Amino acid sequence: MRVAVVGAGPSGLAALRAFQSAAQQGAQIPEIVCFEKQADWGGLWNYTWRTGLDEHGEPVHGSMYRYLWSNGPKECLEFADYSFEEHFGKPIPSYPPRAVLWDYIKGRVEKAKVRPWVRFNTPVRMIDWDAARSQFRVTAHERVADRMYSELFDRVIIASGHFSAPSAPEFEGIKTFNGRVMHSHDFRDALEFKGQDVLIVGRSYSAEDIGSQCWKYGAKSVTTTYRSKPMGFRWPERFEERPLLQTLVGKTAHFKDGSRKDVDAVILCTGYLHHFPFLPDDLRLKTTNRMWPLNLYKGVVWEDNTRLSYLGMQDQFYTFNMFDAQAWYARDVILGRIKLPTLAAMRADSAKWRAREETLENAEQMIWFQGDNVRELIEATDYPMFNIEAVNKTFMEWEHHKMENIMGFRDNAYRSIMTGNMQPLHHTPWVAAMDDSMADYLRPA
Ligand SMILES: Cc1cc2nc3c(=O)[nH]c(=O)nc-3n(C[C@H](O)[C@H](O)[C@H](O)COP(=O)(O)OP(=O)(O)OC[C@H]3O[C@@H](n4cnc5c(N)ncnc54)[C@H](O)[C@@H]3O)c2cc1C
Ligand SMILES: NC(=O)c1ccc[n+]([C@@H]2O[C@H](COP(=O)([O-])OP(=O)(O)OC[C@H]3O[C@@H](n4cnc5c(N)ncnc54)[C@H](OP(=O)(O)O)[C@@H]3O)[C@@H](O)[C@H]2O)c1
Repeated sequence: MRVAVVGAGPSGLAALRAFQSAAQQGAQIPEIVCFEKQADWGGLWNYTWRTGLDEHGEPVHGSMYRYLWSNGPKECLEFADYSFEEHFGKPIPSYPPRAVLWDYIKGRVEKAKVRPWVRFNTPVRMIDWDAARSQFRVTAHERVADRMYSELFDRVIIASGHFSAPSAPEFEGIKTFNGRVMHSHDFRDALEFKGQDVLIVGRSYSAEDIGSQCWKYGAKSVTTTYRSKPMGFRWPERFEERPLLQTLVGKTAHFKDGSRKDVDAVILCTGYLHHFPFLPDDLRLKTTNRMWPLNLYKGVVWEDNTRLSYLGMQDQFYTFNMFDAQAWYARDVILGRIKLPTLAAMRADSAKWRAREETLENAEQMIWFQGDNVRELIEATDYPMFNIEAVNKTFMEWEHHKMENIMGFRDNAYRSIMTGNMQPLHHTPWVAAMDDSMADYLRPA
């Protein structure tokens, strides 16, 4: 049997580790081929300075930026089979910068020795279901040799991420705005906005964090503009929230409450599209960014053709260990260890989750919802069970710390759910920590 995995980000790498872990315990595993369009693994955590098109003319996948620090406690995303303490040899503070998390992700798969399974610089161009053969035909493009080829696979796992293709709405006057306009996907360095009046559109994590970065690195002012409701944090001086942008005239932004402000730059933090240009209609997940996309049994298995699975497609509170839970589940469906029910039963189960999803009113409820899904997935496999309730409670503390001090929440530390050890405080408050290198983060206080 052959399995294709599309993407070597945290989700795809979870799939590789899941199969390697089964092999380590003596199971016969299929041949695994992971296609990755970038030159290295780690997905979004593999930072690129590029924007637009990459060195091969492919759309740049990366949406991360310099000085990005984890926006949630690392204790909530820790792998259950590979702790931070195992990787770094000691407890480390709770909100690592990007480079530290990238190192951690890589550590587990380097230990598992699965790099030979990955074909780098190789975007998947198309996947077709060949009903006569009951196989998928995967067409890929090896960019370095500039060679396109097709191969047959018995199973496919899609792990290509969904925070890469910008959802960028039009605003009146934006075409003639006399300043920089960009989507968060192209944001790289907050220093570009030092001394400037910045307008951020959106009220979610990108708006909050990119606004905070610009503020930290010296923007003259940050104004965020919301469609549904304000973020409601206690923002510091030079930072404010306004109702939705209506029009831009020259450099002047006009808001729904009739107020106006002159701004130098507009950053659209308006989210991303689930974008799978390599999948035909019958295999393609079509959804907005939400907690329970439909047609995925248990959030993982494509109900219309259960030889296809998707990882990491939900909106995310849980991340790395949820991708693991999903990957172990997808693996066990492929290995025949999990028997799937009938299509009607799968649809009924998904409808039940969706009905509950539609009642969710706030982040707290979404976290418990996602935790329940993660628990159910882990119970079906041999992924090490961890204390989901304790993770949920750590998320609650995180929310509380954000409400208390949005520019200081990263100065807290939490207990590892995986090792039970309290993690240390960081040596420098986040507002004053300008160096986001791994060496600086890990140096003793
Ligand atoms: C700005 C930003 C900040 C974030 N910060 C955090 C954070 O602090 N903490 C946290 O837990 N999560 C964070 N996230 C969430 C993030 O989604 C996850 O942490 C994680 O990266 C998702 O992993 P993934 O493997 O599903 O997707 P990705 O990381 O997006 O990886 C997908 C991989 O698929 C590859 N790929 C795509 N298309 C193809 C193709 N056609 N062929 C071959 N390969 C392909 C890509 O090159 C990429 O390597 C952040 C997201 C963004 C956008
Ligand atoms: N490590 C970090 O610090 C960090 C930083 C950035 C991002 N991230 C991650 O990146 C992921 C994506 O976050 P995201 O914030 O980019 O996307 P998102 O969570 O999907 O949010 C999209 C935002 O765009 C707004 N929006 C969409 N269309 C709009 C319109 N026409 N007019 C006005 N507003 C509009 C939405 O407003 P409404 O809510 O009003 O509908 C929402 O606030 C998350 O998983 C997040 O955790 C992490």
